[in-house]
Amino acid sequence: MAAELEKTIEFKVQRFDPEGKKSYLSTYQVPVARGMTILEALNYIKDNLDATLSFRQSCRMGICGSCGINIDGKPRLACYTQILDLGADSLLLEPLSNMPVIKDLVVDIEPFFDNYKKITLSLIKAAAELESEGEFMQSPADLKKFWDLTLCTKCGICYSACPAVLDDRFLGPATLSANYRFIVDSRDEALDERLEAISDILWLCTSCNSCTLHCPKDVDSSTSVIGERGLLVETSGQIPKTVQEVLISADKYHNPMRMLPSKRTEWAQGLEIRELPTVGKADILYFPCCSPAFDLRNQEIARSMALLFEKIGADFAILGNEEWCCGDHLLRLGEQGLFEVLAEHNISLFEKYATNTIVTLSPHCYHTFKNDKPYTDATLNVQHYTQLMAEALQGGKLKFSKPLKKKVTYHDPCFLGKRSGEYEAPRQVLQAIPKLELVEMRRTRENSFCCGGGAGRIWTEDSPPEGRPCVARAREALESGAEVIATACPFCLTTLEDGIKNLDAEDKIVVRDIAELAKEAL
Ligand code: SF4
Ligand code: SF4
Ligand code: FES
Repeated sequence: MAAELEKTIEFKVQRFDPEGKKSYLSTYQVPVARGMTILEALNYIKDNLDATLSFRQSCRMGICGSCGINIDGKPRLACYTQILDLGADSLLLEPLSNMPVIKDLVVDIEPFFDNYKKITLSLIKAAAELESEGEFMQSPADLKKFWDLTLCTKCGICYSACPAVLDDRFLGPATLSANYRFIVDSRDEALDERLEAISDILWLCTSCNSCTLHCPKDVDSSTSVIGERGLLVETSGQIPKTVQEVLISADKYHNPMRMLPSKRTEWAQGLEIRELPTVGKADILYFPCCSPAFDLRNQEIARSMALLFEKIGADFAILGNEEWCCGDHLLRLGEQGLFEVLAEHNISLFEKYATNTIVTLSPHCYHTFKNDKPYTDATLNVQHYTQLMAEALQGGKLKFSKPLKKKVTYHDPCFLGKRSGEYEAPRQVLQAIPKLELVEMRRTRENSFCCGGGAGRIWTEDSPPEGRPCVARAREALESGAEVIATACPFCLTTLEDGIKNLDAEDKIVVRDIAELAKEAL
């Protein structure tokens, strides 16, 4: 019996004509029944409405990995995605990103596959062992370490979402997790060789988590990269100088920026902000961390937030020079030991002063306090500052009176959005500012494109401008027609300003932190 028709859905399909070298949009109306997939809709269009439409397919059951496309900005397998689950009356279908388009939804996947040639995709063992008869046995416990990584279907979805592949030296998430699959296989005997193959490029990953989030097979490539970095840090010698400098600075000065610890509170000079080591008690512990403390531009964010705390009547204090880096960037760079030293120090202070809430400026501190051991053992009550502000607006403690007649686009920081699931609070704050017009970029919320600053890359960047995620993201912001990029992360602010500068667009668009915009609107 034919499935019952539920509704008609509009499909807008991004087309590319390779002969005329022309891009255009085609719109189709498709009758959709319950359970129908995007791939079935594409086949309906091809069979009934437009035979010229090109797309890839093979198994139609999520195994071959050939039907990856962007569906409303999100990279997905077309055969794995049921249309009515998306809850939309109109859907935009585009080819995967980061790969050249051949025709319509068909991309050239060679750049993705070429990366696999740079690693060895089989066990490496001594020749005599390989020639011997019998099997290489594997215990269930050892198998568990890499089993999930073997489920990759090479669909290229992670590659499409990855900001680091803009630099073509980067091998991409799937290749790096395939390399890690052999590294953690107890039968493999080539750790040094496998690490050497990736030691130069591994640091381009920003830990944005897009690969892991969008993978249809739940392959955790993002964590594989951190595992590989951890091994490189442990065995040392193969770490770029820029990364070494960050690690040495965090060890010596308790910040990754080579700044003297005694300068940590210079941002607060003249503001009469109370320090917990002096006052002993406060309701809120305000934790600005390193970039807003030491970076001259970003000190303005720390000061703006201090003023906002006063406006909402919050009882807050800082740790002063006793504050150490939260350690997030070090953890993502694979320096687990150093991260733990920094975390233990901060936890001892959190416990000593026992404030009700810790409010962070950076999504990196927010995420690590909430998700990474040993912070999670301390059961901390943590808020990102945009969450505190959204609550204050709802409770009537905060009001904006000055209009800000500007077109603003919001860049979701990866560690607040994709990694922590907070998309609303920052938008609520922006929407509460009178006359501010909020517009979205092409890739937004969980599909947001990383600015390129995470996992220490903010201090280790060496890509040419076109290989920098911040340049691509600044270009997207300009395409949205916005005059201001608002963000809620000091690292995004620094990278996006770099992107705008590289595009020579400083007269067209500026980057502001939400705390700065909010202060302006008071
Ligand atoms: S890791 Fe996941 S998203 Fe990436 S190619 Fe493999 S299956 Fe596709
Ligand atoms: S975490 Fe982000 S930058 Fe790193 S490999 Fe995955 S998608 Fe690329
Ligand atoms: S057609 Fe094979 S995975 Fe979709």
